[in-house]
Amino acid sequence: MAKNFDVIVIGGGPGGYIAAIRAAQLGFNTACVDEWKGPKGGPAPGGTCTNVGCIPSKALLQSSENFEEAGKHFGDHGIQIGGLSIDVARMLGRKDTVVKQNNDGILYLFKKNKVSFFHGRGSFVKAGAEGYEIKVAGAAEETLSARQVIVATGSNARALPGAPFDEANILSNDGALRIPQVPRTLGVIGSGVIGLEMGSVWRRLGADVTILEGLPTFLGAVDEQIAKEAHKLFTKQGLKIELGVKVGEVKNNGAQGVSIAYTGAKGEALNLQVDKLIVSIGRVPNTIGLNPEAVGLKLDERGAIVVDDECRTNLPGVWAIGDVVRGPMLAHKAEEEGVAVAERIAGQHGHVNFNTIPWVIYTSPEIAWVGQTEQQLKAAGRKYRAGTFPFMANGRARALGDTSGMVKFLADEATDEILGVHMVGPMASELISEAVVAMEFKASSEDIARICHAHPSLSEATKEAALAVDKRTLNF
Ligand code: FAD
Ligand code: NAI
Repeated sequence: MAKNFDVIVIGGGPGGYIAAIRAAQLGFNTACVDEWKGPKGGPAPGGTCTNVGCIPSKALLQSSENFEEAGKHFGDHGIQIGGLSIDVARMLGRKDTVVKQNNDGILYLFKKNKVSFFHGRGSFVKAGAEGYEIKVAGAAEETLSARQVIVATGSNARALPGAPFDEANILSNDGALRIPQVPRTLGVIGSGVIGLEMGSVWRRLGADVTILEGLPTFLGAVDEQIAKEAHKLFTKQGLKIELGVKVGEVKNNGAQGVSIAYTGAKGEALNLQVDKLIVSIGRVPNTIGLNPEAVGLKLDERGAIVVDDECRTNLPGVWAIGDVVRGPMLAHKAEEEGVAVAERIAGQHGHVNFNTIPWVIYTSPEIAWVGQTEQQLKAAGRKYRAGTFPFMANGRARALGDTSGMVKFLADEATDEILGVHMVGPMASELISEAVVAMEFKASSEDIARICHAHPSLSEATKEAALAVDKRTLNF
């Protein structure tokens, strides 16, 4: 006999667990099924983001940044440290504790909101009178049913053909977050978000890092001016970034590390020998074990579940959200879709504004943006005005000792509506929120320029960049 629910969510990542909580808040009898196992085999909800993504990567970025600060910059403050060293096991242990706090937090939230949690793999069995039947294969087998199902099964790392992940030498994001000792040399394939974040972590701790990128331009999706500045800063920090390469044979030589044959940008045959290799060339939607065929759930050629603008699949009552569908693979995008779908099931007007989803790359300095880039506006023939302000001219940045980068505003030439805001600099991940709010409210750059910002604060750089649109910066 199947246990009947109003809503079943398959997947407990940021998309799934947030959808389940919102559905329960709206009064639905809700189940969430997630198969992720913690180190002792127990449930570890939170998905990629909590277990091998956003949270552990930010924990290691913080640890490695503290280490680099202590070694390179504490002296400027008159703080002397002798015999500085890094205990990698302890750093990884701290990261694991942070992850577990988040896993436990989600289990607590499920209890608080009366979401029934099932630990195991959920798969479609059939569509019947009670709605969809879902089998949960875990420590015990159970059958659930519901008329509304939200699929939030996430994504997996894409491997290079012929070079499978062994997580010892050839590492996905999973292995990249638990290298037991600082490698002497580290190769990274792909200078995207993971490549730059994880490359930065291990470089700061002492690895000699080479990043091989297939495209001829660095961070092609980022505003060109910001990407150029970031490239300059990362290169100065010691990340070796080779653009426009073609990766050939990758050999896993066990204790001897990994060798990568590749063609350089000028067509020259090259070889890179490294202790460890991170492959970060994008992620693929995950429907492994979901058994979509049983109910005729439609996937596209990339394996993503096909959905409309409102996350409806081809089946009535079946929705899909997050990394397993189209759109940016970001935790906050998955969460917004989860909330919107739960509200649509309740007959409300769920809303996700894809034009105001912020992006952040948590390097040092951080890169953050929302809206359109200058190259996109040019390509669309849109008339705009641009304003930039460097952190060098910001008092708080000088006091922090971190003056790299800038804030850039792009506003419509006629109406002054903000079309995009781009930053590379300290705490850009926090500063970008102001721009998101402004764009959500369709503010003009003049609106931001006329708002009082605390002094001294990094946010004054945002105000000054808005003033720069009208060529009237006060501090530069
Ligand atoms: P996931 O988080 O992948 O969760 C899916 C869950 O479903 C998993 O727990 C999985 O085990 C489970 N599952 C799958 N199939 C089944 C099944 N059949 N039955 C039961 N359970 C199943 N995004 C950001 O916004 N900010 C960041 O800083 C950031 N950092 C990242 C760093 C790294 C290294 C990586 C890899 C990703 C990062 N991301 C970041 C991306 C972010 O992790 C994803 O966009 C987000 O996790 C997607 O959420 P989701 O709920 O769609 O899927
Ligand atoms: P990505 O899409 O960000 O970058 C992949 C890079 O690899 C691209 O620059 C691409 O040109 C390059 N590439 C692809 N194939 C290649 C090949 N054969 N040889 C050389 N280069 C190649 O993907 P990444 O870094 O794997 O991250 C996956 C996703 O996870 C991101 O797109 C993002 O959505 C999410 N993420 C988000 C983070 C954040 O929000 N801070 C942090 C980490 C991941």
